[in-house]
Amino acid sequence: MNPEPLIICENLVKIYMLNQDGGASVEVQALQGLDITVREGEIIGVVGASGSGKSTLLNVLGGLDRLTGGRALVGRQDLGRLTERALDVYRREKVGFVWQHGSRNLIPYLTAVENIELPLTLSGHVGKATRERALELLDLVKLTDRQGHRLEEMSGGEQQRVAIAIALANRPQLLLADEPTGELDTVTAQTIYDLLRDLNTRLGLTMVIVSHDPGIAKHVDRVVAVRDGKLASETVRVQKENSEEHHLVELAVVDSAGRLQIPREYLDRFHIKRRVLIEMTEDGILIRPPAGETHGEEHGSSSSEQESPREEALQVPSKILKMFETLKSTIMNWRKK
Ligand SMILES: Nc1ncnc2c1ncn2[C@@H]1O[C@H](COP(=O)(O)OP(=O)(O)O)[C@@H](O)[C@H]1O
Ligand SMILES: [Mg+2]
Repeated sequence: MNPEPLIICENLVKIYMLNQDGGASVEVQALQGLDITVREGEIIGVVGASGSGKSTLLNVLGGLDRLTGGRALVGRQDLGRLTERALDVYRREKVGFVWQHGSRNLIPYLTAVENIELPLTLSGHVGKATRERALELLDLVKLTDRQGHRLEEMSGGEQQRVAIAIALANRPQLLLADEPTGELDTVTAQTIYDLLRDLNTRLGLTMVIVSHDPGIAKHVDRVVAVRDGKLASETVRVQKENSEEHHLVELAVVDSAGRLQIPREYLDRFHIKRRVLIEMTEDGILIRPPAGETHGEEHGSSSSEQESPREEALQVPSKILKMFETLKSTIMNWRKK
């Protein structure tokens, strides 16, 4: 595999401004300093909880959204510095998109072949060559026999094949897919992953595939997990000793500032809250809760002497609350009179 990186994101930040009813706006930090590198010809899977920033990452990489901070390089293009016009050309010629819903990928009243001709025509193809190229693309996704079918006359898997053909129409360097198998059953999803792998091998196409399916690891070269707008971990395939077999290993990612996301269950297991001791050992770095902070208020002994003051502490506000309620109803009654 060519080791040259096609995508380099450094400290990528994307902030959306959400307008609220009163006219005020709030910031949503969708990407909070994300670092990622994708090599040319690589297929990576992106997983993460809903709202973690997966689609935002794809939209920035695809030139649909402007980044707020940091850097995103695709090929030699610095996306943050492109003019609107250059970004337009980039979007049309360098990347292909596949979305989750067939209706977002395809125009319903056009046939499969007409849908594929559309991006070709928009980028300047004319005449017979357009149809020829569209048919070539249909062949590439193994769907020649569905060329005259409209959206509703195709299965979910067939719709996604047409979507992939459309995405490939202008020979992009990069294919971005946002949950392309999200609406498909497991068997059909498998055929779509097989097709993507086949296209990757044949065309050397780099792919970034977002999925909510943790099983995506077996279909891609590497899986990155996004948490709260940052890269949390990478799952890579490691060859077993003296064997052809591979197994998957999840590695935590250290970002460009040296930060590391520690899995929540590890923190909980050692009752780590806010601070840790970091020590060097012979063969690595040890992270431990500082002495005195593990057996603090939350995890002290459960003796009744310790519990009673806590109960009392809880009773005080409820007493105040009661007094307040009484006072409020007195005032209300007084007002009514
Ligand atoms: N256009 C937008 N305007 C405001 N907030 C947005 C917009 N798009 C996404 N967000 C917010 O950014 C965060 C990341 O969203 P998204 O990238 O869609 O997550 P995912 O694809 O991982 O579910 C969420 O909090 C989401 O509500
Ligand atoms: Mg999404």
